[in-house]
Amino acid sequence: MEQKERESWGSRIGFIMAAAGSAIGLGNIWRFPYLTGMNGGGAFIVIYLACVFFIGLSIMLAELTVGRRTHLAAVGAYKTNSKSWTFAGVLGVLSGFMIMGFYPVVGGWSMAYIVKSFTGLLSNPAAVGDAFGAFIGDPIQPLIWTVLYMLINVYIVARGVTKGIETAGKILMPMLFGLLIIIIIKGLTLPGSSAGLSFLFVPDWSVVNGNTFLAALGQAFFSLSLGMGCMITYGSYLNKQEKLPQNALIVVTMDTCAAILAGLALFPALFAFGLEPTAGPGLVFVVAPQIFAGMGGFGMIFSAFFFLALMIAALTSSVSLLEVVVAYLMDERKLSRKSAVYGTSVVMLILCVLSSLSLGVMSKATVLGVGAFDFFDILTDKIFLAIGGMLLAIFAGWFLKKEDLRDELTNGGTLKFGLFEAWYIMIKYVIPVLIGIVAFVGITSIAQKGLMIFGLLVIVVLAAFSKKL
Ligand code: PHE
Repeated sequence: MEQKERESWGSRIGFIMAAAGSAIGLGNIWRFPYLTGMNGGGAFIVIYLACVFFIGLSIMLAELTVGRRTHLAAVGAYKTNSKSWTFAGVLGVLSGFMIMGFYPVVGGWSMAYIVKSFTGLLSNPAAVGDAFGAFIGDPIQPLIWTVLYMLINVYIVARGVTKGIETAGKILMPMLFGLLIIIIIKGLTLPGSSAGLSFLFVPDWSVVNGNTFLAALGQAFFSLSLGMGCMITYGSYLNKQEKLPQNALIVVTMDTCAAILAGLALFPALFAFGLEPTAGPGLVFVVAPQIFAGMGGFGMIFSAFFFLALMIAALTSSVSLLEVVVAYLMDERKLSRKSAVYGTSVVMLILCVLSSLSLGVMSKATVLGVGAFDFFDILTDKIFLAIGGMLLAIFAGWFLKKEDLRDELTNGGTLKFGLFEAWYIMIKYVIPVLIGIVAFVGITSIAQKGLMIFGLLVIVVLAAFSKKL
């Protein structure tokens, strides 16, 4: 059989846009603000930033390095080294699958809210909360939006790496930043908005416990698209001239800015209107429309643009989630791109239907104490991603040759200030130990212990059957 040349990024900016597009998503705009709200504000942000820059950045660099070295997607990258490691890649593919079991549901909500902005959502601010509850609990409406969202997603991925993902990223990412800035300016001009700034930037350490650390670590991995082979896959499409450390730093910084901007867009206005920061997963859908409703005639337009931005950000992320699974099926199972895309999306759509229904008619159907939506969300965010990142660090630090890593990471040169050595020590010793401690402390203090133990068992079973995967 003729070996097809591997697709690669058309340009550097194409890669940055696509990788930042993967990182910036619902994680930044939907999840980061509500986690910040629920975990007490400033203190959570400080811990989150520490996780991002001490752990996330190093792992990002490690994923890009391993991906480009092997020129293979997650599973292949581990497997060519040793079959005992195949499981770590498969765990990533599984995480991608499971995130795609709820992510398109939330993507669908934001699509729906673009339309709802014009159809009365803002006319009764006091009813926005109830309307959101009724909407996501409805057995039909959110499903229609989820399907629509999924169709767009499939269309982009089916067109292939350079054409689909790159074009989408180039057009959509700058637009998102612009929109957030407009909303921030609007919010900061409201009277009373400064309380939101102190909530975000003045840490209250009394609210911190083991859970806060696990939530921040999980969020860092989720937001940066780490711990599941996504950046390994993207790195595998990077050409040899690109400087990996610069690329990693740019992507991490952009992602972090997006999260902080989302916080700045929501909290000052939220406090100005006297709303609750602890609203939970509905926060952006409940609070944002109320903010917009208070803006008079322009509110509708701002609201529509905001949810359009949210949907766009979500799309460039879910495209990458789908890509991890698709790349695996193409590289390892020799499927064509089209059959891989269509096959996996059907399964994902079924998971999404379960997730969506678990917020309404199927709310009584729980496994290990949680419904389908929480099952996929908590399992990936609270263990699979962090353990996935830990496995990658151990793999790179202990099973790959230091000189090979140096060669790949520095493009055959050196890094200033001993930065390579510092990175290597982080990957080999510090990060595995840190993640181990945070995971242990977090799991012992989390409410869903059964689910956590189940997750760990899944990983152990995958590891035991690694050679057969
Ligand atoms: N980083 C994305 C977000 O913040 C979600 C994601 C996780 C994408 C893992 C790819 C891999 O929304």
